Order: sequence, then structure tokens, then C-alpha cells
Amino acid sequence: MGSIAYNFKGDVVVITGAASGIGKGTALQFAKAGADLALCDFNAEQGEAVAKECRDLGVNAKFYQMDITDTARVNAVRDEVLKDFGKVTCLFANAGVSQDVMGPPLESVPDETWEKTIGVNTMGCIKVCRAFAIPMKEANYGKIVMTSSIAVYSLSPIMAAYNVSKMGVLAFMGTLCAELGNYNINVNAVCPGFVYTPMYSEGGALRIRDKSKVLGKIEDPKTVVETMASTSALHRMQTVDDLANGVMFLCAENSKEITGQVLNVDSGAARRI
Ligand SMILES: NC(=O)c1ccc[n+]([C@@H]2O[C@H](COP(=O)([O-])OP(=O)(O)OC[C@H]3O[C@@H](n4cnc5c(N)ncnc54)[C@H](O)[C@@H]3O)[C@@H](O)[C@H]2O)c1
Repeated sequence: MGSIAYNFKGDVVVITGAASGIGKGTALQFAKAGADLALCDFNAEQGEAVAKECRDLGVNAKFYQMDITDTARVNAVRDEVLKDFGKVTCLFANAGVSQDVMGPPLESVPDETWEKTIGVNTMGCIKVCRAFAIPMKEANYGKIVMTSSIAVYSLSPIMAAYNVSKMGVLAFMGTLCAELGNYNINVNAVCPGFVYTPMYSEGGALRIRDKSKVLGKIEDPKTVVETMASTSALHRMQTVDDLANGVMFLCAENSKEITGQVLNVDSGAARRI
């Protein structure tokens, strides 16, 4: 069985949502591949711990506490990262939240839920990419990967705000790809399918279960996610390492002609919807 061994020595990779789940798993894989890392999240305790794990793998890694909805802080962190590392070659704009109040009906989902979900998942992603694109443009080099979701294919009425927020990420990705292509910057997105992370274990799965006829009787969050994932072509969940592999593929020079693309890392879930 073949395999890909990545080498990111000399790269400086910025990751948002790096304290947990897919962001954390991707940070560790980049560290194993030799990349220096600027790790961002609003969870400082866990974020610092991930930075230490990366440093223990022999790379330079620093944690920056940052709420991606705070434009001034995002821009300030960009400046700090440039001071600390001198450049940014890759950005994984990954931080996101699930929908805190599920539908349907539509009128049961408060404005605050729409504003928070779109504010973090879409606007937060936009603010981070906007900030870090500037040094990439100056360098005439960069790789940007955003995290969307296979929710854009299923468009479940349970999570209308989340669907809109992640569809927004794809619209932004396609738009930015055209603008930044003039500066030799690749812009792509990954769509995870079902990865059992704290987003699910700490509430998301339970809220979905409460609104779903099929999942309603299942108590354990992991079984909820496994049951959803079992409908995919390969009938299984993905790991954070599966997602890291997709992100690293899109950031690697081997993929330099790939831009404006959506890579579903979903065991074929989108093809079965
Ligand atoms: N887990 C899945 O199956 C799945 C499926 C589709 C899409 N996604 C997307 O993948 C991304 C990562 O999710 P995950 O499963 O690793 O979840 P997670 O909850 O484990 O990690 C998300 C991280 O983002 C951080 N974060 C949230 N809001 C933030 C903000 N405003 N500013 C800074 N940091 C913030 C959190 O503190 C957390 O560390 C999200 O965008 C999510 O929507 C996940």
C-alpha cells in the first residue's frame, strides 16, 4: 500500500481552531512534517498545550489567543505572527461552531443563533483569510485552506444556520481564489464528513439527536455520529488525521495547480446524500 510522506520544513503554518479536534490533529501532523506553527484559538489552556506538544516534536510553535470574530485582534495576531516567524506560507482557517439551537421549525431558531453561527463560521473565516492574505500577497506566495462541511450537500432543516454559514465559506473560497490567483496564492476548502471531535462529544450530537426521529433514541453521542457516518459510501467516520492529510495535500507544492476546489474528506457521505 502506497503512502505520502509530507515535508513542510521552512513553512510557517497558521491554524485557527488549533486547540481541539481537526485543528489540533492537523497542527500535530504539520509539526511531524517539520512545519513551524502559529496556533490560534480562544481556548488558551488547550491551545498552549497543543503548542507544547508541537514543540516537543522539534518545531517552533507558538500559541496566540484569538477570537476570530474580533477584527482588531485578528489583525494584531497577524502582525505578531509576522514579527515572531517572519512570514506565513500556509493558513488553515478552520475554527468553527455547531448550531446551538436546532430547528425545525425555522421560527424556533433565534436571531442570536443565526448571528453567532454565521458570525463565527463565515465572518470569522473571512476576517482571518483577509488578514493573512496581505503578507501572502506581498510574498507572492501562499496556500489557504478553509473548513466548510458536507452539511452544504445535505442541507438538513435541523441546522439551517450552520448550512448557510458553511455554504458562505464555499462562496468566499471561490471568490478569493479568483482574486488571489494573481498573487500565486492557492485557495481551497475541505469538507469534513463525520469526525468524532468535541464539537460532537460536547453537545452537537446530542442536540441533533433531540431533533431527529432516526437518532432520537440513541443516548451515546459517539453512537449518534457513527450512525450518521454509517450512511456514507464507506460506512465509517473519519479521523482528524484523515482531515490533516487533506489539508496538507492542498498546502503541498505537489498540488500547486489545484485551486478553487472543494475536497470532501467524508468517506463518500456527500455521494450518498
Ligand atoms: N467534526 C466534524 O465532523 C465536522 C464536520 C464538518 C465540519 N466541521 C468543521 O470543522 C471545523 C473544526 O471542528 P472540530 O470538529 O474540530 O470542532 P472542535 O470543537 O473540536 O474545534 C473547534 C475549535 O474552534 C475553536 N473556536 C470556536 N469558535 C472560535 C472563535 N470564535 N475564535 C477562535 N476559536 C474558536 C474552539 O475553541 C475549538 O478549539 C469547524 O469549522 C467545524 O464546523 C467539523
